[in-house]
Amino acid sequence: MEKNQKKGTVKFFSGKQIPLEMHKVRIVQSLKLVPVDRRLEAIDEAGYNSFLLGTKDIFLDMLTDSGTNAMSDEQLSKMFVADDAYAGSQSFVRFQKGVSDVFGKSLILPVHQGRAAENIISQTFVKKGSIVPMNYHFTTTLAHIQINGGQVVELFTPEAMKIKSDHPFKGNIDVQRLEELIKKNGPENIPFIRMEASTNLIGGQPFSMENFQDVRKVADKYKIMVVLDASLIGENAYFIYKREKEYMDKSIGYILKKMCDLSDLVYFSGRKVSSSRGGAICTNNKDLFNKMKDLVPLYEGFLTYGGISIREIEAMTVGLYETLDEDVVGQSPSFINYAVQELDKLGLPVIMPGGALGCHVDAGQFLSHIPQSEYPAGALVAAFYIISGIRGMERGTLSSIRDEKGADILADIELMRLAFPRRVFTLSQVEYLIDRLNWLYHNRNLVGGLIFVEEPPVLRFFTGRLEAIGNWPEKLVKKFKADFGDSL
Ligand code: F0G
Repeated sequence: MEKNQKKGTVKFFSGKQIPLEMHKVRIVQSLKLVPVDRRLEAIDEAGYNSFLLGTKDIFLDMLTDSGTNAMSDEQLSKMFVADDAYAGSQSFVRFQKGVSDVFGKSLILPVHQGRAAENIISQTFVKKGSIVPMNYHFTTTLAHIQINGGQVVELFTPEAMKIKSDHPFKGNIDVQRLEELIKKNGPENIPFIRMEASTNLIGGQPFSMENFQDVRKVADKYKIMVVLDASLIGENAYFIYKREKEYMDKSIGYILKKMCDLSDLVYFSGRKVSSSRGGAICTNNKDLFNKMKDLVPLYEGFLTYGGISIREIEAMTVGLYETLDEDVVGQSPSFINYAVQELDKLGLPVIMPGGALGCHVDAGQFLSHIPQSEYPAGALVAAFYIISGIRGMERGTLSSIRDEKGADILADIELMRLAFPRRVFTLSQVEYLIDRLNWLYHNRNLVGGLIFVEEPPVLRFFTGRLEAIGNWPEKLVKKFKADFGDSL
């Protein structure tokens, strides 16, 4: 059994709990904070949609960690020794070995990013009438399952929707409801059970190994396949290591392998899991592999490059090995935890405990005067950008869809996500975030709602355009200037 060699945090004489960077910065990108008047103009030009802002107007880009994590010197150097070839590249052989060493799966289909894996898995296994139970959906997962005629059923526990909780595993699936669902609908209509590591849309909350083992038991009983979305697996493993008693003396590598052993198919977005690009579907089951294999050359590229450059495959391989290091996978969670604790002390509504990926602010409480139909989370993202230059992402009703009658399907929770890409931001930048968000909280009554003016039918949050209801953005800027004077 693999035990962990090193463990523990650096303690401070002052007693303060400050996360300490276990890396140094060797390449930098300079940032600009454009004046508040320009930020107001920019968000208006972007249709109050943070996806449509240009980075020239952004100070701290906390939209996502996808493809924006810092790469290591090892990753960058390996990109220069890539074996460029359309077919049979040795870089791919190294990638296969990396996946096998880290995830314990030997059959690998490379894809250009996570949703491409979802396309292939859904096209292969989901049919009209299929039901796919999961701990929680991700936007692109849901879209792919629905496009293939399937339906998603989320079986999260009541704890998952509590904003302030001390439950260590809010990403758990309700195993009892899972079994009831299978009995009611018949296992033949359930192509697979999907577990998402560090459930993205409900605050980056992990599931426990115990819960996953229970899922496996149910799956075995009814002979249903288990699919693991491993895009944030490193962080989920880190939380198991930190929070689940049985695993506190095990290594991250041991935990990762165990999670993958419990899964028939593992897929991931390399953009998240290994600070690079790309993605893959991995299994040890030849039949499953063969069912999906032909779709890779059709949609992605040949079986040894999967639509991404060979250089990125090299970086992905190194990134996978780096996932075994607790300092690497723990960096973002420890910074998030710091931000969440500080914001909570100030009385701001944030998802607790801190999870993976980002700090999640409860826009439902923050802007409780804005009805869900006027997109409070979208309004919070826009307002926060205006007063700070920090770009977050809406994860609420605006990221949802409409029902057959055209009414918004209201999100379970309205969140502003402030992503903490791995090893990108410094603690003083986090202090700035806390300061500006606190100011906004004190001035929250100035913020109003949003309304769509251009609404695409699919994944509307990416490119949809909105307008502010009333002239609240101007009023907010006026108050900002009154309080901060000539400060940016
Ligand atoms: N699954 C999960 C859990 C994800 O978080 C993502 C992407 C995907 C699948 C799709 O991967 O982007 O490589 O196609 N999440 C990004 C985010 C987009 O910002 O949270 P992709």
